[in-house]
Amino acid sequence: MNIVVGVTGGIAAYKTVHLVRLLIKAGHDVTVIPTDDALRFVGTPTWEAISRHPVTTSVHDDVARVRHVALGQAAELVIIAPATANTIATMTAGIADDLLGTTLLATTAPVVIAPAMHAEMWQHPATQANIATLRERGVRIVGPAEGELAGGDSGPGRMVEPEEIVAAALAVFAARDLDGLRVVVSAGGTREPIDPVRYLGNRSSGRQGTALAVEAAERGAEVQLVATNVSRDVLQDAGRHPNIRILSAGTAAELGAVMAEAAAASDVVVMTAAVADYRPATVAERKLTKEAGPLTSIELVENEDIVAGLAAARLAGRAPAGQVIVAFAAETPNDEAELLERAHGKRQRKGVDLLVVNEVGWDRGFEIPDNAVRIVSETGVLASVAGSKRDVAGAVWDAIVAARS
Ligand code: CTP
Repeated sequence: MNIVVGVTGGIAAYKTVHLVRLLIKAGHDVTVIPTDDALRFVGTPTWEAISRHPVTTSVHDDVARVRHVALGQAAELVIIAPATANTIATMTAGIADDLLGTTLLATTAPVVIAPAMHAEMWQHPATQANIATLRERGVRIVGPAEGELAGGDSGPGRMVEPEEIVAAALAVFAARDLDGLRVVVSAGGTREPIDPVRYLGNRSSGRQGTALAVEAAERGAEVQLVATNVSRDVLQDAGRHPNIRILSAGTAAELGAVMAEAAAASDVVVMTAAVADYRPATVAERKLTKEAGPLTSIELVENEDIVAGLAAARLAGRAPAGQVIVAFAAETPNDEAELLERAHGKRQRKGVDLLVVNEVGWDRGFEIPDNAVRIVSETGVLASVAGSKRDVAGAVWDAIVAARS
């Protein structure tokens, strides 16, 4: 693919050298267009050597080939990394006072930008308004991430890593096979209060559910992500996506109510959240103390099975036609046969179309980026996937697409 990489004047420009390398290694033809300021951080020889193309910032070079518009016209993708607050402002205003500016006005290719600046500049209403305008025009914004910034400050403003920028940029061309589909995904784990400071909970971080929501949104779906005790950090990517609306729930009862309402108008329901099967029969108004007497047991009552309830609502006609329901199960089996037997039984019992089952243990499945799952349907094991939670999300959506057709 013919890719233009615009580089503007921020310290993160040094990371863009690696970004260009990644694109070249993946077989793309890359033309780098720095701004004059960018060249104060990384010089022309580096960009020429790494991209194997001549590099200039000026609209007055190579005039015979109308370079100031030719690069933009020929580009199939434009990535700007880092994108400073100033460049974001000039882009928004359509100012074309250098080669990058003219290229941006001349191109009809998708544009992906990776902002990098100090947190205050990112949060300034001017920058935020510019970002909103660019987004409306279809520009994809990747980041910024939270973290350490130049000068020892920290906060939102760090350019995201080159690998992530490349993945996000190329995702623009990925399948849009979920276009217009209404989807609800639950993520995380419920907490059932014992008293105002204690709860019964589980180790689910919400990473797999969040990856499912982001994957669906990238493939064109309108997503509601019901976050059940998921940290801000885990929700970062989802929070940035214009097609994802984040709702929240705390207990199983709250999650049940939010899911029932969302599912009634969704084409696909994915229940990734780990739901407590039981809750304390009574919740103490005030903190339980040892002085009030030793607490050696807690009486529990069973929670309703949310996903089974959604499947029953569908059977009763209270769901859009053709709705697909997916449940997840974390198991600690002795062997593969037992894992699959439990998976098939659970899928049938809950009345869902697909059950995604993974093996968990003290050091597997939870709170870590990788996952290994089987996707089970009425006809057997549809797929076995091991990889990142995003890879798993991709395979689950492939299975959902197949189930719908
Ligand atoms: N689930 C639910 N409501 C519950 C319990 C579970 O909706 N009260 C959903 C989970 O979100 C998940 C699926 O059911 O999608 C399987 O969860 P799991 O805990 O494995 O199912 P259980 O029925 O609780 O089975 P087990 O006895 O093995 O814990």
